[in-house]
Amino acid sequence: MQIDPFPSREIGIFDSGVGGFTVLHELRQLLPGARLRYLADTAYAPYGARTPEDIRQRSLVIAEHLIASGAELIVVACNTATAHAIEALRARWPNLPFVGTEPGIKPAVAATRNGRIGLLATPATAASARLRSLIERHAGDREVVVQGCAGVVDHIEAGDLDSPELRSLVQRYCEPLRTASVDTALLGCTHYPLIEPLWRAALGPNVELLRIETAVARRTVALWAPMPADQAALNIETSGDPTALSIWIERVLGWRRLNVQAWQPETQNGQQTLAI
Ligand code: DGL
Repeated sequence: MQIDPFPSREIGIFDSGVGGFTVLHELRQLLPGARLRYLADTAYAPYGARTPEDIRQRSLVIAEHLIASGAELIVVACNTATAHAIEALRARWPNLPFVGTEPGIKPAVAATRNGRIGLLATPATAASARLRSLIERHAGDREVVVQGCAGVVDHIEAGDLDSPELRSLVQRYCEPLRTASVDTALLGCTHYPLIEPLWRAALGPNVELLRIETAVARRTVALWAPMPADQAALNIETSGDPTALSIWIERVLGWRRLNVQAWQPETQNGQQTLAI
């Protein structure tokens, strides 16, 4: 009898919702032969409005599911989950590689000419100790203006990528960056590149906008050794409505005929860990 040494070995990727697709897009280019499973925790989005403990608990439950499905590497395609949960994930599964997503302070420091950097993130990321420490370690004497952007992710999740309401929200959040005359701005949430033209319009032509998802995908490639037995596949799961997510994916990303399935975590001791 032949034993398959790597039965459905895969890379697990998760985000609160559709934001991690910006990372998944890069991963599909760089690892076309890999088996990928993406989990959108749509029912609990946005993470940016949740408490650190909620974000940690959700991330642990999701990682457990991805590992049970065959993940041998997990990409946390979410700045907010990275900020509040990556240490807990690594402590729980010390032998599994986790690739986190964090604002590229170092590239921003290298790019800025006037020493003023703007960082747009979810409220939970903006308030995190991990982000503070990242800035303290890498920004040196550069000024970093951190702006939490409540509400932006809700628009994107709902499929609104350009409306007067969203534009005025983006304008409002970019105002402090403009007042501080930043010349470099970081999109510190994986949802934000989906509305990159709006950020650009609000920040003006003299601000360089930096994204992080290519670096996250490259880090994944560095940690993932392709094997001859790997079979390319993409499975997408959501804690929300699979039909609504399929429609969003097809309309915004143009990806067709994808397998989108519903996922609900097992209840533990008869109790759901969080209320939606
Ligand atoms: N896309 C996520 C991030 O990078 C989370 C957004 C949210 O759910 O608030 O932070």
